[in-house]
Amino acid sequence: MTDRFGGKVVLVTGAGSGIGRASALAFAREGATVVAAARGSEGIKETVALIEAAGGTASAVVADVSKADEVANLIRTTVEQHGGLHIAHNNAGVFPKPGPVGDTDLEVWQRAIDINLTGLLLSLKYEIQYMRDNGGGAIVNTSSNIGAHGRRPGMAAYAASKAAASTLTRVAALDHIKDGIRINAVSPGATDTSMSLRPGEDADGRAERLASVVPIGRVGGTDEIVSAVLWLASDEAAFVVGHDLVADGGVTA
Ligand SMILES: NC(=O)c1ccc[n+]([C@@H]2O[C@H](COP(=O)([O-])OP(=O)(O)OC[C@H]3O[C@@H](n4cnc5c(N)ncnc54)[C@H](OP(=O)(O)O)[C@@H]3O)[C@@H](O)[C@H]2O)c1
Repeated sequence: MTDRFGGKVVLVTGAGSGIGRASALAFAREGATVVAAARGSEGIKETVALIEAAGGTASAVVADVSKADEVANLIRTTVEQHGGLHIAHNNAGVFPKPGPVGDTDLEVWQRAIDINLTGLLLSLKYEIQYMRDNGGGAIVNTSSNIGAHGRRPGMAAYAASKAAASTLTRVAALDHIKDGIRINAVSPGATDTSMSLRPGEDADGRAERLASVVPIGRVGGTDEIVSAVLWLASDEAAFVVGHDLVADGGVTA
């Protein structure tokens, strides 16, 4: 345990698995009180149990980021339970069923936009409304490198939602830096979570597929993404505003 985030209350959305769980554990390891949020309760309860077993402090709040009333309640509950909100990692996201643009299934498209983009907007909105009246804060959004390069056939809904998430990050950062709120994004490439596995693929199959696609020759570790998140959220990045930090093993180099 270190004290880099001692005294800070940190909200992590999508904290029931993958990058979000790793983020919640890392913030807690570095002294923060963590609120772990997701739609399902099981994953976030497990995240909280892991944090508490390691000597940290956390609570779990169920919230669907695509629903305004649930996000408003998430922020209210965070403040009521822990006395404030200083840092948010907006990380909740889904990877919709791929398919060519000409065969777009509107439900698949809408779900990606609702969660990956509108969910991000709602999270920012309610976090900002609290932070701007309460001493400011730092927000890091999880976007994706696909928003920047877009070179993945069949992934229009995901790529468009993440490109918009990166753009939303920059505009929000400019809108609210004068309120004392620093907003940035991390854009991972393929990372070692279930999201980067194709249907029927295991970790070995993924390693084989990515070996020739990713310049570094391997998938990223969740902690390799999370270290960028923690840096952007920390005072070490006090002059970094509206940045989209790509961690993708060289795909967009
Ligand atoms: N893994 C990769 O290769 C990769 C690459 C680039 C970017 N990313 C991004 O990284 C983020 C985390 O993904 P991951 O790889 O860690 O995948 P993951 O393990 O599937 O985690 C996604 C998390 O988001 C939550 N979530 C989904 N929809 C939600 C909603 N409507 N409201 C609240 N929470 C919701 C999920 O829990 P519930 O289902 O219980 O809600 C889960 O906790 C996503 O934004 C993803 O797009 C991942």
